[in-house]
Amino acid sequence: MPSSFSFVAALLAATAVSASPRASALTGSITARNAANSSLGAPVAYICGPKTANVTCVNRYGSLLPPSFSRDPDPSVAYTGAKVPGDPSWALVQQADFVLFDKKRGLEVLGPAPKIQRGIIPVLNVIHEAPVFVPELNKLFVTQDGPPGNLSILSLDLNHDPPTVALVETDPPLYQPTGGLYNSKDGMIYYAVQGNNASLPGGLQQHAGIARVDPKTLKAEWLLNNYHGFNLAGPNDLTIDDVGDIWFTDTDYAYVLGVSESPKQLQLATWRFRPSTGQIQVMDTSLAYPNGIAFSRDGKTLTGARNVFAWDVARKGHDGTHPVITGKRVIFQALEGAPDGLKVAANGYLVIGEGLAPGVDITDELGNLIARIQTSHPVENIQWTGDDLKTLWLVGIGGFTRVEFDLAGPDLVNYHGKGGH
Ligand SMILES: *[C@@H]1O[C@H](CO)[C@@H](O)[C@H](O)[C@H]1NC(C)=O
Ligand SMILES: *[C@@H]1O[C@H](CO)[C@@H](O)[C@H](O)[C@H]1NC(C)=O
Ligand SMILES: *[C@@H]1O[C@H](CO)[C@@H](O)[C@H](O)[C@H]1NC(C)=O
Ligand SMILES: *[C@@H]1O[C@H](CO)[C@@H](O)[C@H](O)[C@H]1NC(C)=O
Repeated sequence: MPSSFSFVAALLAATAVSASPRASALTGSITARNAANSSLGAPVAYICGPKTANVTCVNRYGSLLPPSFSRDPDPSVAYTGAKVPGDPSWALVQQADFVLFDKKRGLEVLGPAPKIQRGIIPVLNVIHEAPVFVPELNKLFVTQDGPPGNLSILSLDLNHDPPTVALVETDPPLYQPTGGLYNSKDGMIYYAVQGNNASLPGGLQQHAGIARVDPKTLKAEWLLNNYHGFNLAGPNDLTIDDVGDIWFTDTDYAYVLGVSESPKQLQLATWRFRPSTGQIQVMDTSLAYPNGIAFSRDGKTLTGARNVFAWDVARKGHDGTHPVITGKRVIFQALEGAPDGLKVAANGYLVIGEGLAPGVDITDELGNLIARIQTSHPVENIQWTGDDLKTLWLVGIGGFTRVEFDLAGPDLVNYHGKGGH
């Protein structure tokens, strides 16, 4: 059936999910406190929230700093790298695990006992990506971008704490997937695979593309490896829409990272691939480096440069499944880094890994900044795990961080509200 979607519907869905009784009970007292700290001239930051982690609230979004402030525009300089010598309270932001800008909704995100654990397992000092949770196995699979030629994927068994880690290779091996997704409909992991190498160990030759893996047997199957004979530059991230099409972003980071032998042959783009027919169609070429991609339950967002963009998705055409995207709008500029992996929470909030910088920004579905999580390593991507999907893994360059809080991940079997990915 043809359907059309808009962010108005997404907003309604989010309101319905986040209005828990406990959250509403908190509202009265927090509104009063916010008012007490909303005056111009108050220190920029103050301790707030539960004591199970270091939580700092920022007064008026930090929009007025003493004039001696400065910050290096280099994207790898974190938000905490801003210098605010005129206000000693800035140190509270620098040492915080969680920073709240919208105090009321930020405290709802944290819940009563937020926790953050850093350095849970030792990992190589390379980019980690494509964290995928397979609920039947209670395992988290994470890929590595590098070292060149390496075919290992990390498999974390979450039945143990700390998790036990195994290095696995799929059959045939996949050379450095960088985006991944668990599809509850077929129990398979779908990977955006960036590596492009004609002489891999074991005589393996691979072009970048899309593949899927059975997580129980680790058997891999290629679905896509070219566009009418051109190499893809390096599929970076992917998602699956409500009619089963795979949308992926294609960027040339693989060449820069030394895991592709070929410079880009096509413009960097966002593509739609229909596994049932093999059709591949370009959807957007307007972003400089398209990266993370996610559907709201009824819309679409993806990232580029420092920004997050959103589109409306309508369904048209002879069978009512052809997507038409309109209404491109920028909805958020990251506080640091360059937005990388981006995922939508159960209540519609966006959780955005900051790529080059050590943090995650959390906004509502319209891009209004709510809170951030601060880590000790750049965060490339994120994944919820656990029975209640309230554990969030942040993976990136040289580190893994685990967060427990109240912002749940989306229902894996009912992502689009009608039967999952
Ligand atoms: C308001 O901010 C001040 C510092 O600016 C802080 O000491 C105080 O705890 C805050 N009030 C509340 C109720 O959070
Ligand atoms: C908060 O930060 C301080 C200073 O870094 C540290 O000593 C303390 O253990 C932290 N508290 C929590 C709950 O993590
Ligand atoms: C591949 O990476 C793993 C870490 O996940 C490392 O232990 C292993 O030695 C690497 N192998 C090669 C051949 O680089
Ligand atoms: C290709 O794989 C070989 C290992 O067989 C590795 O030494 C080389 O660096 C790789 N090159 C690229 C561009 O991935």
